[in-house]
Amino acid sequence: MLSRMAIHGVILDEIRAHPLVSLFLTPLTLLLIRSLYRVYFHPLSHIAGPLLPKITSLWLHYHAYVGDEASVIHLLHQQYGPYVRVSPDEVDINDADVIPPIYVSKGGFPKAPCYANFDIDGHSTIFSSTNAEYRNSRAKAVVPMFSTKSLRENELAIWGCVDRMVERLIEESQSKRVVNVLNLTRSLAIDAVSTHLFRENYDGVSERGPVLSVSAFVDAFVAVGRFFYLPNTVFVWVDWAVAKWQADRETDDSMTLVDRFVGTLVANTAAKSTTFPGRLLAAGLSDSETKAQCKDLVFAGTDSTGMNLATIIRNLALYPGKYERLKKQVNANAALGGNALDVQALPYLNAVVKEGLRISMANPTRLPHVVPLSGWTFKDTYFPAGSIVGCSGYELHLNPAVFPEPQSFRPERWLKTTDEMSKYWFAFGAGSRACIARNLATMELQFATERLARSNVLDGARPVQGEVEIFEWFNSKVKGEKIELIWDGKVSL
Ligand code: HEM
Repeated sequence: MLSRMAIHGVILDEIRAHPLVSLFLTPLTLLLIRSLYRVYFHPLSHIAGPLLPKITSLWLHYHAYVGDEASVIHLLHQQYGPYVRVSPDEVDINDADVIPPIYVSKGGFPKAPCYANFDIDGHSTIFSSTNAEYRNSRAKAVVPMFSTKSLRENELAIWGCVDRMVERLIEESQSKRVVNVLNLTRSLAIDAVSTHLFRENYDGVSERGPVLSVSAFVDAFVAVGRFFYLPNTVFVWVDWAVAKWQADRETDDSMTLVDRFVGTLVANTAAKSTTFPGRLLAAGLSDSETKAQCKDLVFAGTDSTGMNLATIIRNLALYPGKYERLKKQVNANAALGGNALDVQALPYLNAVVKEGLRISMANPTRLPHVVPLSGWTFKDTYFPAGSIVGCSGYELHLNPAVFPEPQSFRPERWLKTTDEMSKYWFAFGAGSRACIARNLATMELQFATERLARSNVLDGARPVQGEVEIFEWFNSKVKGEKIELIWDGKVSL
């Protein structure tokens, strides 16, 4: 019988004789060692989670790509508790108590490097920048335009956009054809953003084509969410390859259109002008960067507001009782004439808007930030410097202990808002990097909800789809890109 030493020698001889064996064995051994390290010795090894994401970030890339990241992680929280390790260096947290340290206190932790994947035309934007100084100098120049005062001063113009959208919806509803309200709400969103921030109405609501002309541009940016977590160097190549092999005429045309729109805007803007591009030019930004910052607003401003308003419309059509209650409130208010309250002061209307923002899942996934050099201890759990932590609207908004029957559209819950509900409210993020346009977006939703109810346009409307399914990307994408209603005299679903 061969001794152990002899067997060892035979194996080594085999390896020397067949270099291919060592070529495979070496990386496999290294992979095994790295996996063992990540599971048992990594500074995040004490965080619970399934084996695969502890070993490799491919698990997270896969779920981001197929668009089920938020719901898969939701199930994991039920199994593993409030902290789940979703990649070797990343933890998803479903406890709203982390919002102040991660996002608010002293400016919050910095955004994760993967935000750079949302850079536009080679420029970091106010949204994508991970550098606080860079972001702050730009945000400072434009932030007055997002204030309540500035919005109030331009209120009539925003009402004008809303009125045109409702008129168009009335016209569409009379056609007895299926109406894609998502297309119309996206049109309102681009009109409101361009009217208020660029002082030039894009006028998407007047377009007669089947799909809003900026939609393919917006969808191309939404699709970046598939690759959100890739390291930027890898992302750049993947993005290049996708653009090359999946190029389509519609996207190219839409990209060119938006490029021309913002190009003309910037070219015609005097540096002293008080518009969004004017303020950036006056702050010393190049034409090229100013264009990129404007494109960012076209993307961010169209997608999330469009999705939220379409969700509100669909739910009002689904629940005629809630729609009637809303109508009663806005009509009673309108009857007061000169003494009517501002829409912001109508409790049920605001409850409808807030509930729409809670369940729309316009931004369902984690907002990832990086633990600073000092490390971070939260409720006795330590997170080392450099680990990526965050929470998501999906987790916080669908917590049944805070929002009973979380999947149901129940505006009434907001008539008695508890501290816990306010704490778990995350539609616009939180802290210094929360949505810069939350006042504008909320105003659009409030105005549109008021006009929809007063116009009676949703009388007899019925949702076409039994369910609206989404790809759970950073900005969600509705599968099929449609949220449809029909006015055919049949009873609601
Ligand atoms: C209902 C509509 C909207 C929702 C739900 C929404 C949601 C959000 C969320 C969750 C964030 C934080 C992202 C993060 O921390 O990673 C954000 C940031 C941002 N949003 Fe919105 N948004 C909406 C409308 C808009 C509009 C209309 C605009 C532009 C006109 C806009 C522009 C931005 C920008 C520039 C940021 C980055 C802010 C910063 O980092 O300083 N959003 N938004």
